[in-house]
Amino acid sequence: MAVTHSVHGMWSTRLAFILAATGSAVGLGNIWRFPYTAGEYGGGAFVLVYLLCVAGIGIPIMMAEIMLGRRGRQSPINTMRMLAQQEGKSHLWSLLGWMGIIAGFLILSFYSVIAGWTMAYVFRAASGTFTGIDGAAADELFKGFVGDPERLLAWHTIFMVLAVLVVARGVASGLERAVRFLMPALFVLLIIMVIYAAQAGDFDAGLRYLFEPDFSKFKDHAGEAILSAMGQAFFSLSLGMGAIMIYGSYLHRESSIAQNTVIIAGLDTLVAILAGLAIFPIVFAHGLEPGSGPGLIFQTLPIAFGEMPFGSLFGALFFVLLVFAAWTSGISLLEPITAWLVENRSLSRVRASILSGVTVWLLGIACLLSLNVWSDVTMLSLIQAIPGLGALDFWSRLTFLDKGFLDFFDFVTANVMLPLGGLLIAVFAGWALSRSSSVDELDMGEGLGYRLWHFLIRYLAPLAVLLVFLKAVGALQWIGLE
Ligand code: TRP
Repeated sequence: MAVTHSVHGMWSTRLAFILAATGSAVGLGNIWRFPYTAGEYGGGAFVLVYLLCVAGIGIPIMMAEIMLGRRGRQSPINTMRMLAQQEGKSHLWSLLGWMGIIAGFLILSFYSVIAGWTMAYVFRAASGTFTGIDGAAADELFKGFVGDPERLLAWHTIFMVLAVLVVARGVASGLERAVRFLMPALFVLLIIMVIYAAQAGDFDAGLRYLFEPDFSKFKDHAGEAILSAMGQAFFSLSLGMGAIMIYGSYLHRESSIAQNTVIIAGLDTLVAILAGLAIFPIVFAHGLEPGSGPGLIFQTLPIAFGEMPFGSLFGALFFVLLVFAAWTSGISLLEPITAWLVENRSLSRVRASILSGVTVWLLGIACLLSLNVWSDVTMLSLIQAIPGLGALDFWSRLTFLDKGFLDFFDFVTANVMLPLGGLLIAVFAGWALSRSSSVDELDMGEGLGYRLWHFLIRYLAPLAVLLVFLKAVGALQWIGLE
């Protein structure tokens, strides 16, 4: 009964899967998003909650995603439909796949814009633009760049072309070879950056900031902070939209899902921590603001590169690797959509990847304009422009609507759609899927490991996501629990 191969191809080895999944997980989320989000919520307390989310929610859900993908061997929509049918459950489970497709479009649209920043910074670093600059100059440089829609558009377009090129060729051949040396190289460079930060930056302050939880700052907006830590875990591990699911669908049956997951999640977390250790010592040594938002690494790292010997070389290399990290993540966002178009619209892979790429590209234009020309356009202002409905006072109380396209897409995917997708995956894997199916597919016996997973996926992961949601919307206050 079990399907042993995907029509889209298979990973050649277990290592190829681990590298590809790590390539998906390790990306801008680790080096760009993690430090600035941790900075916005005061450091150590956020990091602690983040680590708990990775261990208690992220790892079991990643196992579930790989497991479902490998059992279904199709795009997330069709995998969910087929598995639900096999288990005698509602076909509505395929909606989970649909939400994943939408999340994928939204994430990649802003992801590509940020990846464009990293490409531009390769050239800036190489040409020595950073030599001797201080915090204020780095800040100005960044603001000038982000304020220029034409440049942003050019880089965004280049990144989308790169992503489509790989996906059009099929993931197995091009990608496998690329990640094999890119991931180790990124690691080495990150370690060089940490060593530099340890010498030239205020390493003590950086360490304390990351690892000494200070809940006093965190407490002021704990609901939002915890939601952001959980959202960051989903985003960084590529969970909740079917990317890891489809990568699992190309994985051979003999490979251990539990072991692979621990390796992937461990590497992803290590890279995030290393990024924090490379960035915060520089932030503190130069009197910069850790909570300054999405520009953080673009305002801090140039200072470091501008000071260190061979800074132009290291800087260019670093941003090149960041581009590659973003690239291996970007393709994993495009792959589920493309696979679905191939399966259901019987398009060729080339056409399917171009079609999905162009759609993402268009959405990305809205994102990059929201940084400059449309900086006054927020979701709130768009809703308020709707006759009648928009006049309701209700909208202005939803503070998260007060964001432009890029920030809103980032917020709503990481903090709402991915956790919701993860919640549904957990419920499906833990409750809808029969125990015998998950025992069979995880193939780890029914010992302690399996029982721990089964407990986490049935109870802890869904309840934790639900509680965090409730806490974030303040619902606990309404029902008088707090
Ligand atoms: N995890 C990637 C990063 O940290 C981004 C990413 C790739 C992603 N695929 C995903 C995020 C799927 C959510 C879902 O940069």
